Amino acid sequence: MKKIWNTSLSKKNVGKTVTLNGWVSKKRNLGGLLFVDLRDRSGIIQLVIRPESKAYEIGESLKNEYVIEATGTIVERESKNQELLTGEIEVEVTSLTILNTSKEPPFPITDETTALEDTRLKYRYLDIRRTPIKEKLLLRHKLMQTIRNFLSEEDFIEVETPILCKSTPEGARDYLVPSRVNKGKFYALPQSPQIFKQLLMVGGIERYFQIAKCFRDEDLRADRQPEFTQVDMEMSFVTEEDVMSVTEKLLQKVFKEIKGIDIELPLRKMKYDDAINYYGSDKPDLRFDMKIENVTTIFQNTNIEFIKEGLKNGQIVNAIVVKNHLEHFTRKEIDKCTDFVKNLKASGLMYIKIEEEMSGSIVKNLSEEEKNSLKSTLHLEQNDMVFLMVGEYSIVKTALGALRCKLAKDLGLINPHDYKLLWVTDFPTFEYSEEEGRYVACHHPFTSPKEEDVDKLLTDKEHCYSKAYDIVINGYEAGGGSIHIHDNEVQQKMFEALELTEQDIEEKFGFFVEALKYGTPPHGGLALGLDRLTMLLSETENIRDVIAFPKTASASDLMSDCPNTVSENQLEELGIEFSKKA
Ligand code: AMO
Repeated sequence: MKKIWNTSLSKKNVGKTVTLNGWVSKKRNLGGLLFVDLRDRSGIIQLVIRPESKAYEIGESLKNEYVIEATGTIVERESKNQELLTGEIEVEVTSLTILNTSKEPPFPITDETTALEDTRLKYRYLDIRRTPIKEKLLLRHKLMQTIRNFLSEEDFIEVETPILCKSTPEGARDYLVPSRVNKGKFYALPQSPQIFKQLLMVGGIERYFQIAKCFRDEDLRADRQPEFTQVDMEMSFVTEEDVMSVTEKLLQKVFKEIKGIDIELPLRKMKYDDAINYYGSDKPDLRFDMKIENVTTIFQNTNIEFIKEGLKNGQIVNAIVVKNHLEHFTRKEIDKCTDFVKNLKASGLMYIKIEEEMSGSIVKNLSEEEKNSLKSTLHLEQNDMVFLMVGEYSIVKTALGALRCKLAKDLGLINPHDYKLLWVTDFPTFEYSEEEGRYVACHHPFTSPKEEDVDKLLTDKEHCYSKAYDIVINGYEAGGGSIHIHDNEVQQKMFEALELTEQDIEEKFGFFVEALKYGTPPHGGLALGLDRLTMLLSETENIRDVIAFPKTASASDLMSDCPNTVSENQLEELGIEFSKKA
């Protein structure tokens, strides 16, 4: 086995003879001397091969990405390279072996690259040789180690749960796997180990965790993968506070060990309704201000027709204020903002510029009283830009919330090294699905309602709240969980509320409801998105950067060309035939 990592060597090893293994990153011939940058997992070290060395001829034949073994003596460099960890030394090679040659890679293996992401994904094994990707995989490893150590010390035990499961939908579509032995029947891949972890609580495990693979067939975004990893936890005899407390201690340890950052506990908590009201999102980014302000009452007697009309129909007027960047808002920029919110179903966007005089789209129609109220309510000062919107509550909140984030990005208001963590709590139990024409679970059907709302489950779904909490970091949902239902009657009622028939309940969840009847302890848990946490810690916005072999936005693996067709034989064995439509 290779004994020495390149970057473990330094000036204090001068004079030592070493044997190194790695890849040729670069070769130069300077006045007859050969210089080779040798790359291994840890980084680069310079080899020097003199014309009189036995290794010279082999050295001359080296090409990028050849795999070599080099033996030589460590010497101090004449011209040092501050950029390299090993920049003060080089290895004078006495013997050299080529362990393997390499085709010319389709893109150079350099830190910065102009290669298209699709090309990088097709040759992902080469992409992984690049430092930015390798570093993220190392960080992910360290993160998993830290998590395992912390939870083990807190008496959690790691238990694996099945990948071939019964389909028990949790919100997304299932990935299905046909059974050969039981023709016509299917397994589903787990969307999370939710039911199993609850059954482990019934089984008396009391504190469980698992670094678990989860599979969800849903529309993909920059922070979503069809196959992703959760740090899944469950505990018996706990309250919401207990689960949040263990999780935030875990995160405190993670931030300290991985980033050297001290996170102050307890973390801030914000109710879901407040998050929507002030930030237009259940995952507010608190690295910048620009809260959404309600200015509806200021327009109670307005002369502006469309606002008057909106208010008559129960609509609201909200505002956000951008401080000190008035010069940014040219006509073109304002139009861009308007188009942006229109894409989010808003009917339009009003603005007011605060200079010596107010100016902007609606100013000439504002009364003095309205102007003064806006000034005092929004604490307006010279150089402020105010955006206003009238419309239905949820449209206004969502659109202004998204505009707030876009503007913060465009104006560079976010420090990428800053971390703002918070809990969003008290989620509604249900949300209305236009698509399905019924109320669906906001989290999943096993989430416990607040005690005072159990009686409302069937009669007042709009006003039921859950013992659920999400951990939000820099505008990302980094994890979510809840106290889970341990009482089979409440669970039955929840299924009924979700309009499952007796037969559905029995077929899909009968085994689970049965288990709840055998002395199930009160329990709750949470799952952190490991990929998202790694993204946040490694300061990338692309989830694919932190996964060794990720899928594209169309759920494909470009390297192995997957998914793909299978042979007639395989289909026959499974008893599957494609219909003409497919
Ligand atoms: P939830 O569905 O909120 O909870 O998932 C937990 C966390 O997993 C991450 N996540 C994803 N990451 C990448 N790609 C995806 N497609 C994806 N979907 C989710 C998010 C999310 O916060 N069983 C419950 C937990 C519980 O109730 O204890 C659950 O899965 O970071």
